[in-house]
Amino acid sequence: MDADMRQVDAVIHARLASQVALINQIGSYIVSAGGKRIRPRLVLLFARALGYAGPAQHELAATIEFIHTATLLHDDVVDESSLRRGRATSNAIFGNAASVLVGDFLYSRAFQMMVSAGSPRVLEVLADATNVIAEGEVLQLMNMHDPDLSVDEYLRVIRFKTAKLFEASARVGAVLAGADAALEETCATYGRALGTAFQLVDDLLDYEGNSDELGKNVGDDLREGKPTLPLLVAMQRAGEAERTLIRHAIEHGEVERLPEIIAIVRRTGALEATRAAAEHEAAQARASIAALPASAARTALLDLCARAVHRSS
Ligand code: IPE
Ligand code: IPE
Ligand code: MG
Ligand code: MG
Repeated sequence: MDADMRQVDAVIHARLASQVALINQIGSYIVSAGGKRIRPRLVLLFARALGYAGPAQHELAATIEFIHTATLLHDDVVDESSLRRGRATSNAIFGNAASVLVGDFLYSRAFQMMVSAGSPRVLEVLADATNVIAEGEVLQLMNMHDPDLSVDEYLRVIRFKTAKLFEASARVGAVLAGADAALEETCATYGRALGTAFQLVDDLLDYEGNSDELGKNVGDDLREGKPTLPLLVAMQRAGEAERTLIRHAIEHGEVERLPEIIAIVRRTGALEATRAAAEHEAAQARASIAALPASAARTALLDLCARAVHRSS
């Protein structure tokens, strides 16, 4: 697996190349900062769990990491984030315009790569995923500063903006291995549930995490007035005065009372509730692949479910 991931890395570096110097500079800046590479790993693990060992997996795993990297470049502009992967964000260093444009370069490079892979089904899966991610980010924008957002609407956003690419990664592994439609759906179910768990934990870590370990600033969601599950649960459980305080903070992105709000989120058990929701999704992910033949790859996929929930970075 490590050797395979090194091959994915080699493809990533090779395909990053452009004749435009600023693209190379920003591309290698964000890529060399690392990242957990979960999505390409999913492609390889599903391909392997279903018996594929051919050459196309590295190229497609790298393609998905490019799509992911493009979303990060755009997301940090939209969220006005200043820290990513333990470094100043690309927007903080090179500016918003350059980040958006290099994100576009990475998206379109990913499409060049998937076209050369020559599988219409893979093209369809990744085109759909990219489109849904964009819908998720726009939906989230529409939900900003809305304290009346329902939990269902919140879940819809995270299924679109995050779970969809996990789902697509699992599907691509399955398609490579020649899976039939039913087996592809099994893999998709795993990806969707794991991705949902992953984003629930991301939203949790924004309250209880540590910036150094996370490589991102904590507290940004509240600062931005983003109504994520920890706040939605805290509002359900808090008394009238505290609920009003949280509503006000979501509406106005108030930073002055941030410590007070974090204390309410902690005291009401909203973080435990968010973790329980993530555990539930992770259990669904595990159950969905229980019937796959036992293999080292399937074990790794099962382990990933626990790691997605119990992580600090
Ligand atoms: C960050 O994804 C964006 C979210 C969906 C929360 P990752 O946490 O996988 O980012 P890297 O690639 O490891 O930096
Ligand atoms: C990540 O959303 C989803 C995408 C990048 C599409 P967030 O805004 O919650 O992720 P971080 O916290 O910036 O990584
Ligand atoms: Mg963000
Ligand atoms: Mg976040």
